Parts: sequence; C-alpha cells; structure tokens
Amino acid sequence: MGEKRLIYMDHAATTYTKKEVVDAMVPYITEHFGNPSSVYGIARESKKAIDAARAQVAEALGAEPGEVYFTSGGSESDNWAIKGVAFANRKRGNHIITTQIEHHAVLHTCRFLEKEGFEITYLPVDQYGLVDPKDLEKAITEKTILVSIMYANNEIGTIESITDLGAIARKHKVYFHTDAVQAIGNVPIDVKAQNIDMLSLSAHKFYGPKGVGALYIKKGVRIENLIHGGAQEQKRRAGTENIAGIVGLGKAIELATAEIPAHNAKIRAMRDRLLRGALETIPHARLNGHPEQRLPGNFNVSFEYIEGESMLLWLDDVGICGSTGSACTSGSLEPSHVLLATGLSPEVAHGSLRLTLGDVNTEQDIDTVLAVLPDVVSRLRQMSPLYHKAVKDGALNV
Ligand SMILES: Cc1ncc(COP(=O)(O)O)c(C=O)c1O
Repeated sequence: MGEKRLIYMDHAATTYTKKEVVDAMVPYITEHFGNPSSVYGIARESKKAIDAARAQVAEALGAEPGEVYFTSGGSESDNWAIKGVAFANRKRGNHIITTQIEHHAVLHTCRFLEKEGFEITYLPVDQYGLVDPKDLEKAITEKTILVSIMYANNEIGTIESITDLGAIARKHKVYFHTDAVQAIGNVPIDVKAQNIDMLSLSAHKFYGPKGVGALYIKKGVRIENLIHGGAQEQKRRAGTENIAGIVGLGKAIELATAEIPAHNAKIRAMRDRLLRGALETIPHARLNGHPEQRLPGNFNVSFEYIEGESMLLWLDDVGICGSTGSACTSGSLEPSHVLLATGLSPEVAHGSLRLTLGDVNTEQDIDTVLAVLPDVVSRLRQMSPLYHKAVKDGALNV
C-alpha cells in the first residue's frame, strides 16, 4: 500500500523552502562563512551576497537597494516600523491609525504603545474585511504620525486598496506602513507608485527560509532603531547578518515575483473550484472575505454549528493540513478578531476553516478535500447539541 498523500493547505502559515533557494543558501553556510563586517576575502564574499540580495528585494518592490533593511522576519519588521516611527516622531504627535484586522505583530505593538502614551485608532472594516478610505481620512488628526494598514489579510485573504489608502496618508503628510507579509508573491507591488513609506515582508511566506525578513524604509523617513548594537544595515539594525537566510530571501523574492502571473492563475482556479464545491454541497456555510479582492490561494468558510478545532483534527486524521485562523492564535479559544470585525458572531466565527493553497497543491488534492469535507461537517453537526436544537426548533432548513 502506498503512503497516504499529505495535503498541505496552510501556505499562509508557512511554506516549504524551494530547492533553488536552498541551493543558493548552502554555500553561505559551508564555504562563505565570513563575517561581512571583516576585511578579508571570505568576508567580502558574504558582503557581496548581502548586497546582491538587497538588490533583488529592491527590484521586487520598486525600491532603491539602500531602502531595504534585513530583519528576522515579519514580526520584527512590523515592530520596527511602528515603534521606530512612534519614538522618532513623538514631538510631532502621538496618534497612530491602524485597523481592527491586523496581525498581532501590529496589534500587540500598538497595544504596547498605548501604555507608552500613544493614542491608537483601530479602523473598522466592512463585511468583506475592507477598510473604507473615507474612514481613514476622517480619522487623521493633527497629531497623527503614522498609518499602518495590512496589504492582504492572513486569515480571510482580503486585499486592501493600498494605493488609495497610501495616497490619503501622503496627502496629510502622515507616514504610511503596510504589512505585506501575505501579499508578496501574490500581488505585484511598487512602493513608489503605491505611496508606501514602509513595508514589511517575511521570506517563509513565499518559499524562502524562516527567520528572515525585510523592512523597506523610504529614504527620508524619520525612524528610531529597534535593535541597538553594531553598525550593520547602514547603522540601523544591529546584529551579525543571517547571510544564508538573506541570500535565500533574495532568491525567493526574485522567483516569487517572476512567477506571480502563472502562480496566481493556477492557484486561483483550484481555489475557486474548492470554494464552489464546498459552498454548493455543504449547507449553512458562508464565505469569509471579499469574493474577488482576495489572495488567490485563500479559502475561508464558516460552517454553522461546528467547532473549527474539531474539524481540523478530523481533517488532520486524513492528512489534510488546514487552520482555523492565524497559526499564532490557534490553541486559544478566543474567536478570530478578524472574523468578529467582519461582523460574524463568536459562534459562527468558531466554525471557520482556512485553507491556503500553494504550489504543491494539485487538482487531485481539491478532489480529496471536496470528497472529505461534507462528511466531516455533517458528522460534527450530528454531534452538536446546538445543531439538533436548531433542527428541532425549525430554525434550520435541512
Ligand atoms: C500578516 C502577517 N504579518 C506578520 C506576520 C509575522 O511574520 P513572521 O512569522 O515572519 O514573524 C505574519 C505571519 O503569520 C502575517 O501573516
């Protein structure tokens, strides 16, 4: 008997690292191990590799290489952008605007700043997870120093109208940061044309290694350092560079950007079939996120009268890896703050399933999920007292 195929549909949590990326990294773990801050030959090799990766990231974003700073990932980039601007611009104002649906790397940073005397506005979103640019404009005051709005949401996949939002921030001379961790490799980005002053990204979301990311900081932005120490990264981010990781990030972003059209077409078609199939065959299910303005691989559906965590365990049992919200919050019993912000009740939010497709998925994977999912939902409903009560009360159309 053959091995059961693992169906990995959690690419928003992390991706595997592509072979070409690993191959590019290996020499910087083995041969070229020199510290780029040293003066001898092997150190110069490391320095050259970092410069090349910086140019690759800059090219992917439409930035200048000198505007790209390597970090340990999306969380550090978000922390740096927000705390760095907050502390460097305190005299100008203490007001920051973000949204209710950000990743915790942004939300918890903002909560921390509230304790430091900053005022934060958390903009609402509509039922699809979209921020209304008019709400942003209304929220800006004389004390506003920063707007931070994610490019694409990690749970429901909604893509925000970043260019318009950035234009509003620019018009009011307020810095604009976007957490583009989920967008890279899915959406073409041009920081200059899109009015973006700072942008966070993380390699492990686009087939690069974990523990490495970057922050784009437009030339001239007033920002305090987050990590103090040595003179690395143009004296702005201390610490001996993660050279192999940085090389991997450079290679991964180059591949991911070049592959956007083909990757999107393939993944969107599979995701659409999965969505259609699930919504047609499973009653009392609803799509979360925007129907069109969403990441190509994102499927997020709520099934009423279901515990999402139980659904994940059943799916895991047949080799399907999914998620209920963001990986960082799974294990907690709190319903997703993103789903609540779109207007879902805590009960319905609890019954949601996020499947995020990537380049390992096949049409056969979609067939398998569509064969298994209706049965899993139906069995869990049979075990749900709430479902039986709804049937008895005639509150359901079964
Ligand atoms: C939107 C978003 N921002 C930030 C992060 C954090 O990135 P990292 O895991 O590289 O710290 C994630 C990871 O899930 C994310 O999805």
